[in-house]
Amino acid sequence: MGEHAKVFHKLGIGRLHGLLSTTAFVFLVSFVLIAAFLNWMQIPIIQGSPLIYISRNTKKHHERVEVPLNCTHAALQGRKCPKNYPNVFEPEESSTKTCPDYFRWIHHDLQQWKTTGITEDMIERGKSSAHFRLVIVGGNVYVEKYKRPFQSRDVFTKWGILQLLRLYTGKVPDLDLLFFSGDEAKIMKRDYQGPNATVAPPPVFRYCGSEEALDIVFPDWTFWGWAEVNIMPWEDTLSAIKKGAERLKWEDREPYAFWKGNPYVAEHRLDLMKCNLTDKFDWNVRLFHQNWTKATQEGFKGSKLEDQCHYRYKIYTEGATWSVSEKYILACDSMTLMIKPEYYDFFSRSLVPLQHYWPIRRKDKCRGLKFAVEWGNNHTQRAQAIGKAGSKFIQELLTMRNVYDYMYHLLNEYSKLLKFKPTKPPKARRICVESLACPQKDLWRKFMEQSIVKSPSNKPPCELPPPYEPQAIQASVHNKEKMAKQVEKWETVYSNKQNDKKRWRSLI
Ligand SMILES: *[C@@H]1O[C@H](CO)[C@@H](O)[C@H](O)[C@H]1NC(C)=O
Ligand SMILES: *[C@@H]1O[C@H](CO)[C@@H](O)[C@H](O)[C@H]1NC(C)=O
Ligand SMILES: *[C@@H]1O[C@H](CO)[C@@H](O)[C@H](O)[C@H]1NC(C)=O
Ligand SMILES: *[C@@H]1O[C@H](CO)[C@@H](O)[C@H](O)[C@H]1NC(C)=O
Ligand SMILES: *[C@@H]1O[C@H](CO)[C@@H](O)[C@H](O)[C@H]1NC(C)=O
Repeated sequence: MGEHAKVFHKLGIGRLHGLLSTTAFVFLVSFVLIAAFLNWMQIPIIQGSPLIYISRNTKKHHERVEVPLNCTHAALQGRKCPKNYPNVFEPEESSTKTCPDYFRWIHHDLQQWKTTGITEDMIERGKSSAHFRLVIVGGNVYVEKYKRPFQSRDVFTKWGILQLLRLYTGKVPDLDLLFFSGDEAKIMKRDYQGPNATVAPPPVFRYCGSEEALDIVFPDWTFWGWAEVNIMPWEDTLSAIKKGAERLKWEDREPYAFWKGNPYVAEHRLDLMKCNLTDKFDWNVRLFHQNWTKATQEGFKGSKLEDQCHYRYKIYTEGATWSVSEKYILACDSMTLMIKPEYYDFFSRSLVPLQHYWPIRRKDKCRGLKFAVEWGNNHTQRAQAIGKAGSKFIQELLTMRNVYDYMYHLLNEYSKLLKFKPTKPPKARRICVESLACPQKDLWRKFMEQSIVKSPSNKPPCELPPPYEPQAIQASVHNKEKMAKQVEKWETVYSNKQNDKKRWRSLI
């Protein structure tokens, strides 16, 4: 794969621009106007930063200190990681809220090590499969780098972990983990079972998992932003897509299935391109090539995610493995037509076919897509409800708070399995928000400033629900297969009818 094909291979979508700076501008202008007005009225205004004035007023009952990124301060201190952030966790509320159901997969992903625990030897053996090792000791984070990773995935992943430590100060336990920030599966079940079961598998964190692999699934880097393709941190992206979706009512959207992406990353994506509209045939599908090289050169005009909610149906198809585009596609309020995925990320195993999305098989997908669109245009209420439910899942269950809570519980459960006391590896380097963000510029710096956690949480994480019973997991897999079969059955009945019609016509 060429560097460029590889570079932008994770999704086919766009980016946002200037939303925040606009908000900030409007805010500033209003502040100046209000200040001028107060001045004119001869009402004394508090001297100093307008931001401090406002935050004092709105946060009356809990004086939460806000510690923004301050690179001047870091430089003045002469040390890379200054101690200016609180390190105690003092929640004001106690939580009895249970985390969403998808958290239950945490137990499943760690199941492999339940009886053996995780030893230092396992970590040693996993090093060759990892890009970096991350160790937390007493709230300090140390990283040892093994390989040069792809783009800034690893940087934003480390950034995310640092934010978790800022949100739940003093609560994240000591731990020692390996992270692989590429796409492909690293730790395969087959290498550790039957006659191959001579050693225990090493635990390696990664952004997605599959039935064949034992990697531990962790939220991907895009939750803190994907600078190379200008996709903002998740909170900002989600609210932009939400606004974008409100611009056009479902009924008024194009009654076709839309996909925009880089087809050159996987065979099955190239195969999907065969379903595009031609002058001979219309599969009800509209596909667009996202050339990221071109988009980058043109300043990402025309690749904004929030401008991609103008079709009633949106296709999700995996890339080389999973695709980070899934959450953006599901968030549009359009019905997602999901081409059977082989990989899952940390939340997608809890998506239910015909409730959150419409399942499409891999083989003969053009026919499946055409049928789904026609069905949806005939049953608009039901298609709309599926689109809504998918978006609701994303908007309500995949909040940034839940992403942090997921990370917290995963790391917490993981740390309980460690059979040794984590210590700083000799070659590891300490990292902190200043050491990661201060040397950055452009979008890298902007996204970090946007996604930084400014003060510790005032409430504890949600409560981790218990593991699924093995039967429940089997039932869920079985149920998914059953619904996919059901859809195929409807389609067969439909195409038989079509064929009958044709036969009739040829008889007349
Ligand atoms: C950043 O730190 C410097 C030096 O300690 C200080 O003078 C400045 O006010 C700080 N800026 C902010 C926004 O806190
Ligand atoms: C053992 O591992 C090898 C290499 O990955 C694999 O080809 C083989 O199928 C495995 N054997 C079993 C019984 O899973
Ligand atoms: C698919 O067809 C549309 C309409 O003809 C065209 O604009 C678009 O470029 C095609 N997409 C791809 C990926 O070839
Ligand atoms: C993408 O755009 C670049 C720059 O415009 C161009 O050189 C390249 O050929 C394009 N790639 C494809 C696959 O169309
Ligand atoms: C949609 O409705 C049309 C007209 O009633 C019908 O001919 C067609 O078979 C329906 N298609 C599906 C997939 O329900």
